Amino acid sequence: MKKVYVGMSADLVHPGHMNILKIAAELGEVTVGLLTDKAIASYKRLPYMTYEQRKAVIENIKGVKNVIKQDTLDYRTNLEKIRPDFVVHGDDWRAGIQNKTRQQVIETLEKWNGKLIEPSYTDGISSTALNKTLKDIGTTPDIRRSRLKRLLSVKPFIRIMETHNALSGLIIENIKSNNIEYDGMWSSSLTDSTSKGKPDIEAVDLSTRINTINEIFEVTTKPMIYDADTGGMAEHFVFTVRTLERTGISAVIIEDKKGLKKNSLFGIDVFQEQETIESFCEKIQMGKRAQITDDFMIIARIESLILEKGINDAIHRAKSYIEAGADGIMIHSRKKTPDEVIEFCEKIREYNEFVPIVAVPTSYNKITALELSKAGVNIVIYANHMLRAAYPGMMSVAKTILENDRSYEVEKSLLSIKDILNLIPGTK
Ligand code: SPV
Ligand code: MG
Repeated sequence: MKKVYVGMSADLVHPGHMNILKIAAELGEVTVGLLTDKAIASYKRLPYMTYEQRKAVIENIKGVKNVIKQDTLDYRTNLEKIRPDFVVHGDDWRAGIQNKTRQQVIETLEKWNGKLIEPSYTDGISSTALNKTLKDIGTTPDIRRSRLKRLLSVKPFIRIMETHNALSGLIIENIKSNNIEYDGMWSSSLTDSTSKGKPDIEAVDLSTRINTINEIFEVTTKPMIYDADTGGMAEHFVFTVRTLERTGISAVIIEDKKGLKKNSLFGIDVFQEQETIESFCEKIQMGKRAQITDDFMIIARIESLILEKGINDAIHRAKSYIEAGADGIMIHSRKKTPDEVIEFCEKIREYNEFVPIVAVPTSYNKITALELSKAGVNIVIYANHMLRAAYPGMMSVAKTILENDRSYEVEKSLLSIKDILNLIPGTK
C-alpha cells in the first residue's frame, strides 16, 4: 500500500477538501497532517474550530487513515518522518505565500522519489467567501470570549486596537496590511468617555459602557479587552466580572489606583494615589473567585512607573499580583522611550517565563510591536488611536464649512456619498 500525505487546516471544510481527500485515498493510505492552531495563526487568522474539533471532523472522513499534527507551515519534519510516496495539495498554492512551502515539499520528496500531486482548485467555493459569510453571521459570547486565550497560546504576541463604537469596531474587524490584522479590540476608558463627552474619571457607568460594547459586538467577531479603570470597590468588582464575562469580553484590566482616578498619561501632574498591595491583591482574588468561565482573564495594571515610584516597586507589585492570581500584568509608562518597560519585562521574565505582559506604547511610539514582543511583551495595545484619528477630521470639516458658508471646500477630504452608501453591506 502506497503512503499518501495531505497537509490541511480543515477549519471550514468544503467540497474542495473532499475532492483532495478522495484523490488521495485512490492513491493509497492517507495520513492527514492537520495544521495546529499555532501553524495556522503563523500565516493567517486563528481557525474558528480548535485543533481537537478539526481533528474530530477529519478523522471521520472516508479514506482518512491517520491524523497527525503538523506544527509548522513547513511540511519537511513530517515528510521526513513518514516518507510518503505522494503528497496531495490543491494547485492554488503555486501562487502566493505557500509557494516556498511547495518548493520545499518537491525537493524533500525527491530524496525518495516521492511525487507531488496537485488536483486543480475546486471552482465555485472558497474559504475566503465562507469566512466572510461566517463573519456576517457573527459569533457567540462563549466563542468570542475564549478567543483571547487561544490567541495567546498560539501566537508569540498579539496586537489590540482601541475601539469606541461599532464603526471603529468594523474597521478593526476587517483591516489588513501584509497579511497582518489586529487580533482584538480595547475598550478604553479614555476614548469611551471622551466620545461621550465625559472626563476619564470613572464617570461613565458600566451599563452605558456595556451598551456601546453590545453595539460593537453586533458587527464584529474579534475578542475584546476591557479597561475597567480601578475596578471600583472590590465588592462591586465581582459583579463587573460577571457582567463582562456574560457579554463575551475576554479580559479585564484593573489598575492599582484608588480614590478619584485620573488618566495615567497625566502622571504626577495631577493627584493620583496608588492602592496598597494588600487591598489590590484582595480585589484580584475576589474577582478570580467570582468568574464563572475558565476563559476569562483578570489582568493587573501597575501604575508605579506612571506615579514615579520606580522599577523596584513595579516589580515587587507585579510579583504580588501574579501570586494573588492575576492572569497577566500590564505595565504602563508615559516616557518617550521604552527603556523602563523593557527593563521591567527582563526582570519579570527572570521570575516568570510565561505570564502574559501587556504594554501600551502611546508615548514611546517608535518601538514596533515586534520589537516589544522580543523584549517579552505578549499584548500590545494601541489605546486611543482610532478616536484621536477621527477627531481632527471632524473638527476641521465643521470649522471649514463655517468659514466658507458652504461645504464645497471640504468635499475632497470626505468619504464620497457613493462610498458611504456602499460602506455597510445591506444599505441599498
Ligand atoms: C485607556 O485607554 O483608557 C487607558 C490607557 O487606560 S491610558 O489612557 O494610557 O491610561
Ligand atoms: Mg483607562
